[in-house]
Amino acid sequence: MLTLNIIGAGRLGKTLARLAQDSGRYRIGAVLCRSLPAAQQACAFIGGGEPCDSLQALPAANLTLLAVPDGAIANVAAELAASGRLAAGSVAFHASGVGEASLLAPLAAAGVHCASLHPAFSFAEPARAVQGFAGTRCALEGDAAAFPALQDFAGAIGAVPFALAPGGKAAYHAALSIASNYLVTLHDLAARVAAQAGMADEVAAAVLGGLMRQTLENTLALGPQAALTGPIARGDAGTVARHRAVLAAQDDALYCALGLATARLAAGRLDAAAQAALGQVLLPGPSAE
Ligand SMILES: NC(=O)c1ccc[n+]([C@@H]2O[C@H](COP(=O)([O-])OP(=O)(O)OC[C@H]3O[C@@H](n4cnc5c(N)ncnc54)[C@H](OP(=O)(O)O)[C@@H]3O)[C@@H](O)[C@H]2O)c1
Repeated sequence: MLTLNIIGAGRLGKTLARLAQDSGRYRIGAVLCRSLPAAQQACAFIGGGEPCDSLQALPAANLTLLAVPDGAIANVAAELAASGRLAAGSVAFHASGVGEASLLAPLAAAGVHCASLHPAFSFAEPARAVQGFAGTRCALEGDAAAFPALQDFAGAIGAVPFALAPGGKAAYHAALSIASNYLVTLHDLAARVAAQAGMADEVAAAVLGGLMRQTLENTLALGPQAALTGPIARGDAGTVARHRAVLAAQDDALYCALGLATARLAAGRLDAAAQAALGQVLLPGPSAE
């Protein structure tokens, strides 16, 4: 059985440790928090591990997860390297979405195989996260020597690992942020504009929610170009101008930026005149209408 140390037993640390414990394939070594009571509580949730509040007391382990906040990873890695507690040839990894394995450089210099493993999952609450984690995709990046152990770990906790290209973390995380966060922003924008039309909140929620779900399903099934419908896909510059005329300046700027990107997506099915008309009507700034 392999031993896994957890440094930072918050939302992600507790969840992954509990899943590893439940898999029966890992023994949880130390569970380290800055206070012993927090570590004790975490061990109770995990169902294993030794509560610990000092890096100096870390036992030997095959794998060590640094599940501290992103801003603390580099410092904890440096302290850990200075402590000499991790053996050369063991694996250390963090779970930051945007940070690279190089945050663990002092450990790598000591011969530890360092990587990042980022689950594309929201760990809002550990008990719920444990229930819903199966099938989560996990991005792996860093020292390839760490990959076999981390692929096994991911499999044991029910995740599906995939490797990122070297230097790909920032683009990977930007893609996730756009897909997740900006979807929320788009919904908010649409809801504000719907309110201008006098739609009641519950009516707008039903209309916009249904349409957004259906559009996402179409996009995933058909691809973005085939899924695209609406005035820009039809080259209908007149409708676009009427939209712009009712939008507040800030909403209009976003509408134009997204409209121009949408026009590029639709370019294959529009003739040159329609493309030019759309380019003109979507020029940022005061609308012609
Ligand atoms: N939450 C998510 O949805 C999610 C998703 C994907 C990836 N991640 C990544 O997972 C990592 C952890 O995030 P999280 O959301 O689990 O954070 P969190 O809930 O805030 O937990 C962080 C833990 O680290 C401990 N800690 C903080 N500073 C420390 C230090 N210097 N030394 C030792 N322990 C320290 C904290 O415990 P004490 O305060 O008791 O010491 C706490 O238990 C981050 O890299 C994050 O980007 C999170």
